[in-house]
Amino acid sequence: MMSDDVKEVLISEEEIVERCRELGAQISEDYADKDLVIVGLLKGSVPFMAELMKNISIDCEVEFMAVASYSGTESQGDVRILKDLDRSIQGEDVLIVEDIVDTGKTLLKVKELLYSKGARSVKVVSLLDKPSRRIVDIQAEYVGFTVEDKFVIGFGLDFNQKYRNLPYVGVLKEEFYEG
Ligand code: IMP
Repeated sequence: MMSDDVKEVLISEEEIVERCRELGAQISEDYADKDLVIVGLLKGSVPFMAELMKNISIDCEVEFMAVASYSGTESQGDVRILKDLDRSIQGEDVLIVEDIVDTGKTLLKVKELLYSKGARSVKVVSLLDKPSRRIVDIQAEYVGFTVEDKFVIGFGLDFNQKYRNLPYVGVLKEEFYEG
């Protein structure tokens, strides 16, 4: 069974649900007089987006983008757009919804891209933050949970495209990293 692959549950579903209530309330307050467009980065943000958006109580629009890092992400990270936005964000206040900020390279590029499309402001809400791995100087304005330097899975996060459907954030057993 899938959950047998998990060494440890780091963040339970209940904790995530509760944190999304807090983040949603904060975002609703901060964007009360703005034109909010929330942009989820596929695929990892999907469960977090679903939980978070239920708790945003002001008018907002929901969009998705898919980007991929070029292979060899440890080098100069550049992102490729797999699915672009369907609409103009000219003059809008954009909030990127991300699963985890790791090196920060992806977010930096996406932020630059959204500003180049004329967004008035671009901020980030991330379910997880792994600050110990940061390479570029970027910080999400809203963070669900800070995690240690461990490879995490679940609640959208994958290992080789698996485990995104786990309802919690956990650590994979070491034996699954090999091969
Ligand atoms: P960054 O550009 O290095 O910040 O990469 C962020 C992306 O790498 C995230 O959106 C995830 O898809 C992936 N990632 C980074 N750390 C982890 C992890 O611990 N588990 C699963 N995916 C991760």
